[in-house]
Amino acid sequence: MNSLKRKDLLDIQSLSTEEINLICRSAKYFKDMFTRSVKSVPVLRGKTVCTLFYEPSTRTRLSFDLAAKRLSADLINFTVSTSSVVKGESLIDTVHTLEAMKVDYIVMRHAASMAPHFLSKNINASVINAGDGFHAHPTQALLDAYSILEKRGSIEGLHIGIVGDIRHSRVARSDIEAFKKLGAKVTLCGPPTLVPDEFRIYGVDISYSLDDLLPHLDVINLLRMQKERQRGSLFPSLREYHKNFALTVERFRRCRPDIIIMHPGPINRGIELDNAIVDLPNTIINEQVTNGVAVRMSIFYLLAGGAPLENLPEEQG
Ligand code: CP
Repeated sequence: MNSLKRKDLLDIQSLSTEEINLICRSAKYFKDMFTRSVKSVPVLRGKTVCTLFYEPSTRTRLSFDLAAKRLSADLINFTVSTSSVVKGESLIDTVHTLEAMKVDYIVMRHAASMAPHFLSKNINASVINAGDGFHAHPTQALLDAYSILEKRGSIEGLHIGIVGDIRHSRVARSDIEAFKKLGAKVTLCGPPTLVPDEFRIYGVDISYSLDDLLPHLDVINLLRMQKERQRGSLFPSLREYHKNFALTVERFRRCRPDIIIMHPGPINRGIELDNAIVDLPNTIINEQVTNGVAVRMSIFYLLAGGAPLENLPEEQG
């Protein structure tokens, strides 16, 4: 398979295992480019990318911006707080405005689940989901999968723990789908109020004891406590959460020595993990950010039709 035969990238559910592997293989090519003095290639020259973010973001937005620039695309940013949305313009009218400007790619983050799916049906441009409500964050899952593949060569048979606020997490939903498609055993862990039993339909195990689970894990993915999405109190206190579910230095001593420690960011130091954990060689949070640029370059490239990668010319000047 040479390219993604699809207009949009909206979720992991609709991607085949072959497509996930293809994205990761191409991402490796783009990551290798980052050590060159000239890091850009002209594969999207003449194309326009718009990042349309209705929710805050640092990593996802900046990495999509950088990925588009490294592929030589023209880039426009849409920031809700300085747009006509604040004057009441609807999503569909915003879409028609972008359509009229002949934008080729729209990268969308929205608080409403399925908003990028709605957009994709109403515009000719390729739509990439950069996170929709609790539903999906497919490019985060792809960069997480790539980051594990880079360390271990394969995800097949690895035991991956996803710990924390699973209920409110689009990252968890997309990670579970990607890791399961690639053959991992996945266990969700957190307080029962944040790890609903219905997640078992994904074919995962559930544990309410991090101390029991930790010694068995090859990879631990710590999720951010999403205080802004929680209505009502789902656990006694952040202090209580830290006591039972944070990766502390003491708990790290009981992990496998080569455990991979991940976090999609932004991290809450002292809640999901201790300060000292961030600087361990096992912790790959910053590598995930670097890999996010390569994976997003790969997605743009493959959605554009993806010619064989060996022949990409270097940007001159
Ligand atoms: N991981 C992630 O989506 O981070 P941002 O919200 O900063 O984009």
